[in-house]
Amino acid sequence: MQNNQNKRAIVTGGSRGIGKAIATELAPLCSDLLISDIAFGNRTPEEFAADFQNELNLPGLKVHAFKADASSFAEAQATIDFAVEKMGGVDILINNAGITRDNLLLRMGEEDFDKVITVNLKSVFNYSKAILKPMISQRYGKIVNVASVVGVIGNAGQSNYAASKAGVIGFTKSLAKEVASRNINVNAIAPGFIETDMTHKLNDAQKEALMKNVPMGRMGKPEDVAKVVGFLCSPAADYVTGQVINIDGGMVM
Ligand SMILES: NC(=O)c1ccc[n+]([C@@H]2O[C@H](COP(=O)([O-])OP(=O)(O)OC[C@H]3O[C@@H](n4cnc5c(N)ncnc54)[C@H](O)[C@@H]3O)[C@@H](O)[C@H]2O)c1
Repeated sequence: MQNNQNKRAIVTGGSRGIGKAIATELAPLCSDLLISDIAFGNRTPEEFAADFQNELNLPGLKVHAFKADASSFAEAQATIDFAVEKMGGVDILINNAGITRDNLLLRMGEEDFDKVITVNLKSVFNYSKAILKPMISQRYGKIVNVASVVGVIGNAGQSNYAASKAGVIGFTKSLAKEVASRNINVNAIAPGFIETDMTHKLNDAQKEALMKNVPMGRMGKPEDVAKVVGFLCSPAADYVTGQVINIDGGMVM
């Protein structure tokens, strides 16, 4: 992806892991990049934005950061208002923020179910809803929602997470149908087993069991995921909408 196309992009949960890799991949397409996250490690959003801008080191790119809890509609709306004020609008929205609260259903509390659904699924409603009118007015938009293979095939101990990600897939296909005629593409990706903080907390036995289901025999890297998102946000994917692309070393086929 060489050409700066002056796009304005938002990545939720973009301060680390898959979100940061996606932001890095999109950066050469962008004049403005906004990272929203509930936390920026031990940095302020402003410090994070300055550091990430230096790291990317791309002339013509301005990096912004905004602290927001993606599960809150009011905070999603505040992010979009900030984006419109600072960037003049949004062309690309990546709904990436997500968490796990794993347990077998017998032991899972109501709070862990609700929390995962609101952070992983309601957040996608929040940001998509907040951005929709501006995107429709400009007759251009690319929305990519980060689901998971678990939302496609299920996983013991992740009924809350699987339900949230299956919900993201249903949401993606429905919104894609609603806005296809407005030149807005809405797609989902379903990563498999990717090396990030989310999977670092699994123990070796859990990792070994998961790896048995990966024909390519290795975990994915955040960059493996980011490259597919880069494609979906590029003109090469202008005729692709409502799709769920597995990025999983062959786990689901
Ligand atoms: N790592 C994997 O194997 C894997 C596989 C499939 C899907 N995913 C999905 O990819 C996405 C990114 O996950 P990751 O692996 O990079 O994990 P991660 O934990 O490294 O990153 C998640 C990011 O989301 C942010 N976040 C958490 N709650 C938030 C909230 N309420 N509001 C705003 N931001 C919030 C975190 O601060 C963090 O920056 C998630 O949606 C996850 O479900 C990950």
